[in-house]
Amino acid sequence: MNEKKSEKYILPDQRAEAKRSRNTPETCYGLFQPDHLITTLGRGKTYFVRTYGCQANVRDGETLAGMLELMGFTAAEDAREADVVIYNSCAVRQAAEEHVFGEVGSMKPVKQKNPDKIICICGCMAQEPLVVQRILDKYPQVDLVFGTHNLYRFPDLLYKTMTEKERVVEVYSEEGRVIEDLPVRRSMQSKGFINIMYGCDKFCTYCIVPYTRGRERSRRREDILREIEEIKAQGMKEAVLLGQNVNAYGKDLGEEDGFTGLLEACADTGIERIRFYTSHPRDYSFTTIEAMKKYPNIMKSLHLPVQSGSSEVLKKMNRGYTAESYMELYDEMKKAIPQITFTTDLIVGFPSETDEQFQKTLDLVDYCQFDLAYSFVYSPRSGTPAARMQDDIPAEVKKERLQILNEKLAFYAAKNNEKYKEKVLKVLCEGPSKKNPDVFSGYSEENKLVNFTGNRNMINDIVDVRITDVHSFSLDGEAL
Ligand code: SAH
Ligand code: SF4
Ligand code: F3S
Repeated sequence: MNEKKSEKYILPDQRAEAKRSRNTPETCYGLFQPDHLITTLGRGKTYFVRTYGCQANVRDGETLAGMLELMGFTAAEDAREADVVIYNSCAVRQAAEEHVFGEVGSMKPVKQKNPDKIICICGCMAQEPLVVQRILDKYPQVDLVFGTHNLYRFPDLLYKTMTEKERVVEVYSEEGRVIEDLPVRRSMQSKGFINIMYGCDKFCTYCIVPYTRGRERSRRREDILREIEEIKAQGMKEAVLLGQNVNAYGKDLGEEDGFTGLLEACADTGIERIRFYTSHPRDYSFTTIEAMKKYPNIMKSLHLPVQSGSSEVLKKMNRGYTAESYMELYDEMKKAIPQITFTTDLIVGFPSETDEQFQKTLDLVDYCQFDLAYSFVYSPRSGTPAARMQDDIPAEVKKERLQILNEKLAFYAAKNNEKYKEKVLKVLCEGPSKKNPDVFSGYSEENKLVNFTGNRNMINDIVDVRITDVHSFSLDGEAL
């Protein structure tokens, strides 16, 4: 990169991203002015947004699609055909990043053939200095890079890219504000993703998210409730409340135990189903369990990432709880709501994890018998404290641990599913299954993926389905 160019770019700064102040985060209304949009920019043109990572990123992808449609673009089926392609990226593990680089790499010949095609990278990878440097050095086909904090600037940045015909890089490294009134084009008909808070202040030693998403900041309750009313009016049956640690909701607004109050207010809107992701064991409040018990429209399933069964490893991860306190929390939940389904995230091969410590993870899985778990091999993330520890577990040991863990997880997943055989579950039908257009799929109240024979009229309805067969990761059934 030559000096002159770098002066024009606004590049991420990881040190600034790690800063946290005590002020109440600012909520901005009207920063995005749809009537200032160049609504002719996309006339006769198409777009494609490819989103990676978590549901918060999916929600950002929906905002981008909403903006593009306001500018007159229409959706394309394929990245190769689209005039504007956006890679809305995830930085949580190296493999996720390589995947994005692979796809962007495959666009090089397409861009050569069609120099007017615009290729953008946004999302969490754009917040990482090394990633942006790699794009600048090796991916000349990328026209626009913007970050998670300036999503609202996308129409202006796109306009600049398209009219000035030169590369634009604008990534802010602020703690973050709450920006309201952005457009949205929802990706699902039956459920709506609703951010209740952004960012993360937990700084688990392995994790990049606090750097890429800024500090924990809550949306105001009235804005969240308005969004639920909106999706309800559009006929959606489920609100999925999103935050990296939903239990910390409201702390920055000076509310103690704000999440429970919010959850109850959301339930009071009368929407058929409410779910929330992700809970953190450190902030979990028992009033939330009481609310889950009290309101029939709050689904009885909980995703509570544990990461490791070894208290020593948890300490090195800076998770703020022990394996024992996690198991106590688990017991309390099961006691309060016996039918609750429990899912988690697990990491194997954290720096210096011994065979004994890994065994503790297996023991914890035996204790909690999770309905489902997402398991990952530890991946060093540049700039995080764990990346300064020695990544000393050989790749084959990590792989072997993952395999042993996955076998155990699949065993309990299947065992838990056995009890649903011949039962009738209430399934929110999302549409035809990916594998077979004659089969429909959706999630039960327990958050089980159900594939069932039904008909198109059932889409976006809550259907009674009799379960005929069970697998580790899904159930089969027939609509009644
Ligand atoms: N905020 C959520 C998780 C967000 S990231 C929570 O704390 O529970 C989703 C999952 O990715 C994490 O739960 C963790 O299991 C995994 N993960 C995060 N960073 C990782 C890393 N560096 N290597 C491997 N897995 C990681
Ligand atoms: Fe990452 Fe930990 Fe924050 Fe979850 S709580 S996003 S794992 S730092
Ligand atoms: Fe990935 Fe960023 Fe989400 S790193 S998991 S897209 S917050």
